[in-house]
Amino acid sequence: MLPKVYIRHLSEKIGSEVTLFGWASRVRASGKVCFMQFRDGTGFIQVVGTVQEMSEKDFELMSHLAQESAVQVTGKVVESDKSPLGIEILATGIVLVSATQNYPLTPKEHGTDFLMDHRHLWIRGQRQQAILTIRHHIVSAIRTYFDDADFTLVDAPIFTPNECEGSGTLFSTEYFDGTAYLSQSGQLYMEAACEAFGRAYCFGPAFRAENSNTRRHLTEFWMVEPEVAFMDLDGDMELAEGLIQAIVRRVLERCPGELKLLNRDVTFLESVLAGPFPRISYTEAVEILQKSGSPFTWGDDFGAADETIISEQFRQPVIVYGYPREIKPFYMKRDPKNPEVALNMDILAPEGYGEIVGGGQREDDLKTLEAAIGHENLDPELYSWYSDLRRYGSVPHAGFGLGIERTVAWVCGLSHVRETGAFPRFPNRLKP
Ligand code: 4AD
Ligand code: MG
Repeated sequence: MLPKVYIRHLSEKIGSEVTLFGWASRVRASGKVCFMQFRDGTGFIQVVGTVQEMSEKDFELMSHLAQESAVQVTGKVVESDKSPLGIEILATGIVLVSATQNYPLTPKEHGTDFLMDHRHLWIRGQRQQAILTIRHHIVSAIRTYFDDADFTLVDAPIFTPNECEGSGTLFSTEYFDGTAYLSQSGQLYMEAACEAFGRAYCFGPAFRAENSNTRRHLTEFWMVEPEVAFMDLDGDMELAEGLIQAIVRRVLERCPGELKLLNRDVTFLESVLAGPFPRISYTEAVEILQKSGSPFTWGDDFGAADETIISEQFRQPVIVYGYPREIKPFYMKRDPKNPEVALNMDILAPEGYGEIVGGGQREDDLKTLEAAIGHENLDPELYSWYSDLRRYGSVPHAGFGLGIERTVAWVCGLSHVRETGAFPRFPNRLKP
């Protein structure tokens, strides 16, 4: 029963007879003809059944199929102006693989909680398939970008003994006689990897115990984190800009149908490919906020609303660099020209999507790093291996993290990150 042809490739089969395996997402029958919306995981297609082309038994079966029944359908691929694919199937036979009753997700509108409770079924829907397909292409574009640029994939651990991005957002778990934390970021390990491989990246889940129910925060999200030896902040910005362009280029090329289904206005995405992203300092971003009437003062961190105001000034993603050193993690390098600010950057997506990238140059001087570890009251013993990287062949190095879910939300034009992964995790959602 192995499928030999999938809907994705059917336009090459016009005129021939094919057998497809999949599910009936909707069936509508009227007298001597019935229409089945059919999906096989690679796409959706209309299957038309008629009493002329099918046996009476098969026609009856098809006309009465309940939503999400599994079937094997045989028919001829024919052209059709009405279908978005330009083709449909004229059925000649159908076999029931398994009958379904009372599928919970009917074509009527359902509330978000109900849909999230049925996420294991919801991901079969056309809109969810489009989003998750785009996510797939984004992930694939990211891997290709780094693999083609001489990076080595080095997987970072999930169980860690220490924090990377502040103790306030650590998940802890029993680890035999002690405690382990779920990784907030693979960065510290990538810093070791870049001194071993020159250019390294990790790509995996990150965890943040942030009890914030916003449209941008997950407790578990995926992040790609490149780290490069002998690279400064400027190189870091270029690397991140190239990555975002590669992502957008891939989705525009490979997913026009999905973007259309999501009603995505692609003009913003197209302008991403146009040229260098605007770069502004944190201080300039503060001026933008103050001009817009915000009471924001220099030294504060941007909230979601602030990021929206800043990013709305630009059509392209905007790179904001040089944040106050005091509000940033211990590993960030100070700007030698102005020690009040860090050699860091965030990239804010346009259309109010907020920060999708955070990164920068790392402190590469042993004494300064040890002082920063002390200043944050971190246990130097836990970071001794990290300090070693400054003892043995320390070099200027930089990297960043790009969050997959926020990137998918922006590229797809979604109002919330909850639909950007198959089984998202929030403070109040651990099921299914
Ligand atoms: O800015 P963040 O916290 O940076 C780091 O973790 C660095 N150690 C990365 C590095 O330099 N290697 O996180 C990076 C990105 C954010 O810009 C955002 O896209 C995503 O990770 N992110 C989240 N996405 C969803 N939910 C959350 N709670 C997120 N926290 C961060
Ligand atoms: Mg950040």
